[in-house]
Amino acid sequence: MNLKAFIEGKIEEIKRTAGGDKAISALSGGVDSSTCTVLAAKALGANLKNIFIDDGLMREKEPEQVRQIFRDLGIKVEIINAQAEFFASLEGKLDPEEKRKAFRHTFYSVFGRAVKESRARFLIQGTIKADIIETKGGVKTQHNILEQIGIDPDKGYGFKVMEPLRDLFKDEVRKVAKAIGLPQEIYARMPFPGPGLATRIIGEVTPQRVAVVRKATVIVEEEIARLKPFQAFAVLLNDQGTGIEKGKRTFGNIIIIRSVESKDALKAGVTKVPWTVLMKITKRITTEIPQVTRVAYELTAKPPATIEYI
Ligand code: XMP
Repeated sequence: MNLKAFIEGKIEEIKRTAGGDKAISALSGGVDSSTCTVLAAKALGANLKNIFIDDGLMREKEPEQVRQIFRDLGIKVEIINAQAEFFASLEGKLDPEEKRKAFRHTFYSVFGRAVKESRARFLIQGTIKADIIETKGGVKTQHNILEQIGIDPDKGYGFKVMEPLRDLFKDEVRKVAKAIGLPQEIYARMPFPGPGLATRIIGEVTPQRVAVVRKATVIVEEEIARLKPFQAFAVLLNDQGTGIEKGKRTFGNIIIIRSVESKDALKAGVTKVPWTVLMKITKRITTEIPQVTRVAYELTAKPPATIEYI
């Protein structure tokens, strides 16, 4: 790929497609949506509005960090706190696809309102090639593939979609991100799914359960960071494991550590995390998160498993 030609071509294309109308970018802070936002900001200037929907399912301090990074780049981001709406839509849902459906429904209704308010004609989103391949192939219903999930953006929400990165794979997006001046924190960021920590919780997604998996995620990321895996995270199971506290029997949460190596997320192998690192993570999780009594390491490649749990 000729990076310079790709970047200039996309900026031109976004400008031409928008034709003087307003657009809105749905920023999550991941490499894909951040890259789209910068390309669109270069193409549209004041005609672009950037929103970050705080769904309550982000990693620790993510909303503040994203706002700061974009502030440093001179790009304004409005944060919409929709946590209560997301948790209400996920309440009582146990089935993985039901949870994904609830998430995307809430996402597009929050988003739809923001679009209406700002009178934008276009939605810019960071869909990439792997998202399209996997949704079409039936692996999952990626939250952001509108055509695949039965949302007609023209009819239902009053905006058209632009997906400037739909022909690129993750490693190519990272190159574009670096070339357009995004900091390493963004271009080297681990992939994080649209439905956030909800994809890493088996069973009901509640604020309390999100808090457990979020704390465990911080520990996994901190301890595995220097191995630079493609993706590493914690998963919360929906069962309880017996533990011992002060000589008494207790029942606590079970956390799975998952770390994978991949180029494009279509296939993945398991990271050979040193035993000492796994032991340290386990020790930290069980002491820093008292609700957790057990920690296990996942050994399944993709396929047969997917990377995320739902
Ligand atoms: P799976 O779990 O299908 O994930 O092996 C492949 C890659 O995609 C990410 N992923 C998502 N990204 N919206 C996203 O933006 C989603 O709904 C979604 N589901 C999975 C996952 O983290 C991995 O990198």
